[in-house]
Amino acid sequence: MSIFDKCFAFTRAEEAQQLGLYPYFTPIQEVRGNKVMIDGQEVIMVGSNNYLGLLDHPQVKQAAKDAIDRYGAATCGSRFLNGTLDIHVQLEKRLAEFMQTEAAVTFSTGFQTNQGIITTLVGRGDAVITDRMDHASIIDACRLSYGEVHTFHHNDMDDLKRVLSSLDEGIDKLIVVDGVFSMEGDLTNLPGVVELGKAYNCQILVDDAHGLGVMGINGRGTAEHFGLEDQIDLVMGTFSKSFASLGGFVVGGAKVISYIKHHSRALIFSASITPASVATALATLDLIEKEPERRERLWAITDKMRSGFQAMGYDTGPTQSPVIPVMVGDDAKTFMLWKALRKQGVFTNPVVYPAVPHGQALIRTSYSATHTDEELDTVLACFEASGKALGILS
Ligand SMILES: Cc1ncc(COP(=O)(O)O)c(C=O)c1O
Repeated sequence: MSIFDKCFAFTRAEEAQQLGLYPYFTPIQEVRGNKVMIDGQEVIMVGSNNYLGLLDHPQVKQAAKDAIDRYGAATCGSRFLNGTLDIHVQLEKRLAEFMQTEAAVTFSTGFQTNQGIITTLVGRGDAVITDRMDHASIIDACRLSYGEVHTFHHNDMDDLKRVLSSLDEGIDKLIVVDGVFSMEGDLTNLPGVVELGKAYNCQILVDDAHGLGVMGINGRGTAEHFGLEDQIDLVMGTFSKSFASLGGFVVGGAKVISYIKHHSRALIFSASITPASVATALATLDLIEKEPERRERLWAITDKMRSGFQAMGYDTGPTQSPVIPVMVGDDAKTFMLWKALRKQGVFTNPVVYPAVPHGQALIRTSYSATHTDEELDTVLACFEASGKALGILS
């Protein structure tokens, strides 16, 4: 017996590769706006989280290049010691202002941000309560924390109430929810979460990775969308989506952010965000603030695609965001649909268990403000042709 036995027994990836049905780790050779080159073929990207289309904005690319010229390629250290640049501090100040909160702190990824917040705040004797469909980074962070971990059925407020009412009144409690759920694109029932959170004396953390820049009139996310910004204690975001960069952050009250800064192992024991990525986030934040028309276009695209899929007979599930799933159910059919789309020049993401429950496999599509109507019409036509050819559509 060896610790590696499981690795030798794992053959599913090779089997899928042999069948030409392996969709992961695909090397992209070049990015041309919303088209990417794969194996020499130009493919329309509808599988990226580049919601505002800022990935290749000239101003954004120039800011990254200038930052490398000024600060070098990396920071070679943690924020705590030698890895704080003036632009990290500037970015945190700008984020706190944008989100209308007292303070912000940045981490090197969104994944680390959730780890940094939750393991730092939820200690022995505390409880953390999560939606079962929360992102993997939240689930892992809860496992790593020393607190009790409780989950409630997805967006089910009766179940949240059941969990909260089962806990000791004296326990300190943190509820953590995704603002926009990343696979099916539905929103958390934030009014319900806030009502119960207040009734049971909990603090609330919203992971708004997919909501920031997208939801709310000013792009401040899911809490702005619901008019509940003053009711939420902490909002975390990532730069890997609307901000077209790499890194994450959390905003909230100054004392809480300072505590996280001085206790979070994910922050203190890891190198800080690279200069190019910080400069990118600053440049995209400028554009998020100055160009609300990007958000308007994104929502027009979202409506067009959702109604386009539905008119063909596809089930788009509970989506309320630019993440639009095409529900297939069966894993094999999902991979076949993914492959047919790829052949026709459309990049999508097939999503199977454990990212979604068993039997609820789907093709995840997501859109950018810069997609053209011509690109979108091509995507819809390919979905219709492939769905009919595979017997998914009648
Ligand atoms: C809801 C949610 N939270 C956190 C993360 C982690 O963000 P990052 O990609 O910056 O590590 C993601 C990204 O997949 C996400 O979808």
